[in-house]
Amino acid sequence: MSLLSFDDVSLDYSTQGAVLSGIGLSFGRGEFLTVIGRSGSGKTSLLNLAAGFLAPSRGRITLDGAPVTGPGRERAVVFQDDALFPWLTVRENVAFALRLSGRLRAERLDRAEALLAGVGLAGQGGKRIWQLSGGQRQRVGIARALAADPAFLLMDEPLGALDAMTRDRMQELLLRVWSDSGAGVLLITHSVEEALFLATRVLVLAPDPGRIVIDRAVYYGQRFLDGETSRALRAEPGFIALREELVDAIHAGEEANHA
Ligand SMILES: Nc1ncnc2c1ncn2[C@@H]1O[C@H](COP(=O)(O)OP(=O)(O)OP(=O)(O)O)[C@@H](O)[C@H]1O
Ligand SMILES: [Mg+2]
Repeated sequence: MSLLSFDDVSLDYSTQGAVLSGIGLSFGRGEFLTVIGRSGSGKTSLLNLAAGFLAPSRGRITLDGAPVTGPGRERAVVFQDDALFPWLTVRENVAFALRLSGRLRAERLDRAEALLAGVGLAGQGGKRIWQLSGGQRQRVGIARALAADPAFLLMDEPLGALDAMTRDRMQELLLRVWSDSGAGVLLITHSVEEALFLATRVLVLAPDPGRIVIDRAVYYGQRFLDGETSRALRAEPGFIALREELVDAIHAGEEANHA
């Protein structure tokens, strides 16, 4: 069992004051955490801390009890703007992530092909990145992140640039990837509905300083995987009520700040 823990973590980028304050959070493999909150509430900062790109100003971040001191292969990151290599094929982009694995090139390419099949891109490995749609590129990014068989998959608005229909399909794909890989997922989104549909836990960050104001267990994604339809789940009164509660929590105190 891998467990990533934040213990009373604060972060300031400067002397301007804390961007995140008193963050206490523990999550493990098999969980799907979604993080929502207003722009500037510290969502990306939280992910960068989990990834090890940033160090906390106060408090501790640990992985199975050992301090996190930087990025690691067990924590893969998917960026919003695909950071794919345009001069490589789709297959080579995924295989690139395996270059430190000690496998032979032919084995890496085979494994890349299998990972591509897992994100619905079977047979597309020979294409160039510029021949893919936005949704397909995002799937290559996810396949590449999965190449290292990470315990954690950290994603900052991975579906933000996609049209609504592609986005719905990608949400379903993410649930399958999560379920098949067994990884712990941390996903930031601006969409409250997406957060609610995907998560096993939804976190709401409030700004100034960024802090967790809601940490709620939910079950819709699991129910989708168990066979219920996305449309029926999203139409449930419980889903709608919770969505409204989360929207209210995100906007609480907004007027006061703008006065
Ligand atoms: N590298 C940085 N240096 C200084 N301040 C930063 C840096 N990155 C972020 N900040 C500040 O920290 C706060 C939180 O930023 P962060 O990017 O974590 O928010 P966010 O919730 O991801 O916002 P968005 O929804 O717009 O992506 C903001 O006030 C931002 O200006
Ligand atoms: Mg952000």
